[in-house]
Amino acid sequence: MQKRRLSLLDTLISEADSVMKTVTSRGNQAGRSSPAQGHTDAELSESDRRHVAGLMRVNHTGEVCAQALYQGQALTAKLPTVRKEMQQAAREEVDHLVWCEERLRELGSHTSYLNPAWYGLSFALGAIAGAISDKVSLGFVAATEERVCSHLREHLKQLPDEDRKSQLILQQMLQDEQRHGDNALAAGGTQFPRPVKDAMSSVSKFMTRTSYRI
Ligand SMILES: [Fe+2]
Ligand SMILES: [Fe+2]
Repeated sequence: MQKRRLSLLDTLISEADSVMKTVTSRGNQAGRSSPAQGHTDAELSESDRRHVAGLMRVNHTGEVCAQALYQGQALTAKLPTVRKEMQQAAREEVDHLVWCEERLRELGSHTSYLNPAWYGLSFALGAIAGAISDKVSLGFVAATEERVCSHLREHLKQLPDEDRKSQLILQQMLQDEQRHGDNALAAGGTQFPRPVKDAMSSVSKFMTRTSYRI
C-alpha cells in the first residue's frame, strides 16, 4: 500500500516537473542537437525576422501541446507497449520544443504567453483520450500529427529562402511527426472521422492565430 502511494507520488512529482519545464521553457534538454547547429544565420529584414519568429512561436506552442498530450496519455494509457510508444515520441517532442526555443531566442523573440492555457487543454484532452481507450488515444495522436504536418508544410513554404536554420529545424520535425502519426496508426489507432478532424482543425487555427502574435 505504502509502495503504491510512493509510486503515485513519484509520478505526480515527475509530472509537475515536466509541466514546469515545458511551460516556463527552462530545464528541458534535447537528446539530439538542433539540425540548425553549425549553420550561419541569415541576415533577415525586420519584417521577415518578425514573421519567422511568429511561425516559430506557433510551432513551439504546437510542441508544448504535444508534450501535454503525451504526458496526459502516458498517465492514463492502459497497455504498457502504448505507454512506451508515447514516451519515445514524447522524447522526440522535447527535442522539437528545445530547437524551437533556441531558434526563437536567436531571432530575439519569445515563446507564446498563452502556452500554460494550451498546455492545460491538451493535457486534459490527452488524459480523456487515454482513459477512453488506447485505440482512441493513438487515433488522437495520429489526427494531431496530421494537423501538425500540414502546419509544418505550410510554414516551410512561407520561410524566407535564406533562412536555412529554420528550414532545417522544420524539415526534421516534419519527418519525425510523420513517423509519430504512422506509428500511432500502425499500433492500432483509430482513424478519426472527418467531422472530428475538422473540429480539431478549427481549434488549431485559433491556436496558430493567437500564438503567432502573443
Ligand atoms: Fe513535435
Ligand atoms: Fe510528434
